[in-house]
Amino acid sequence: MPKEVFGRGYDFLPKDAVLSFEECARLARVFVSLGVEKVRLTGGEPLLRRNLDRLVAQLAALDGLRDLTLTTNGSRLVEQAPALRAAGLRRLTVSVDALDDATFRAMNDVDFPVQRVLRGIDAALAAGFAPVKINMVVKRGVNDHEVAAMAERFRGRDFILRFIEYMDVGNSNGWRLDDVVPAAEIIARLGKMEPLAPNYTGEVARRFRQRDGGEVGVISSVTQPFCGDCTRARLSADGQLYTCLFASRGHDLRTPLRTGASDVELAAIIRAVWRVREDRYSEIRATLPQREPKAEMSLLGG
Ligand SMILES: C[S@@+](CC[C@H](N)C(=O)[O-])C[C@H]1O[C@@H](n2cnc3c(N)ncnc32)[C@H](O)[C@@H]1O
Repeated sequence: MPKEVFGRGYDFLPKDAVLSFEECARLARVFVSLGVEKVRLTGGEPLLRRNLDRLVAQLAALDGLRDLTLTTNGSRLVEQAPALRAAGLRRLTVSVDALDDATFRAMNDVDFPVQRVLRGIDAALAAGFAPVKINMVVKRGVNDHEVAAMAERFRGRDFILRFIEYMDVGNSNGWRLDDVVPAAEIIARLGKMEPLAPNYTGEVARRFRQRDGGEVGVISSVTQPFCGDCTRARLSADGQLYTCLFASRGHDLRTPLRTGASDVELAAIIRAVWRVREDRYSEIRATLPQREPKAEMSLLGG
């Protein structure tokens, strides 16, 4: 969320436009009834939502949900990790784009030092979240010199490290293909590693075992798109269903939710959207003509 776009004066959503925890949990229950097994809380920054552990508790209680996880910038984990764990969160991903503070700030444009994130990761481990997943987005000329240092810092069984190709999500990050460090190049920089089989069909990361048992993976959505295997539905904070990370528009679930639709009716709306989805942006980005603006990453969560 670059400050020149989302700075002071930015017109954020009014509170009543945002789904309540009860509304989120109800929609999650409907999604689970349709076969969804995994929910990830993301953002924006999910830990900025007050009392998020209460939403976690409601989601953790859903029958049929097998996996509940959260992606965070880690800035508030020291305070919140124990409550999130107690509420039933089982897994955690923390974004760490560099270990060197100047590089970290150049990537993220945030007002806190990387040390605070590292302390947050320690707090998460202490709260019982091992292994913590670490996401590093790799941008050429900005933080790619830290790839090996990150692999060294986050090796061992406490961590699962993911290197992510820098993606052209949204319109505000000034993306250029030249900024992307291809996953193959990242793997080459890490030296010899043992490839691991996917955990499940559609897993977005290609995984490897590090020499001491730790795991690293690469997510190559630019150089090797995986649209055909993508099963992710994204729900924005204001209740829009997006069928692709690169979509321009969502499908409104908030209006039916707030005007009396039953769970069965909500399920029918979701099913109707999902059945006809044809998204394959990452496979065809090079051939696409100029389109309407894409939704921002901060709305869709990654
Ligand atoms: C959008 S963030 C939201 C959650 C939280 N605020 C965080 O920082 O992790 C989710 C993930 O997307 C990653 N991400 C953001 N912009 C990206 C881009 N242009 N390409 C690839 N990954 C990106 C972030 O680094 C983070 O790991």
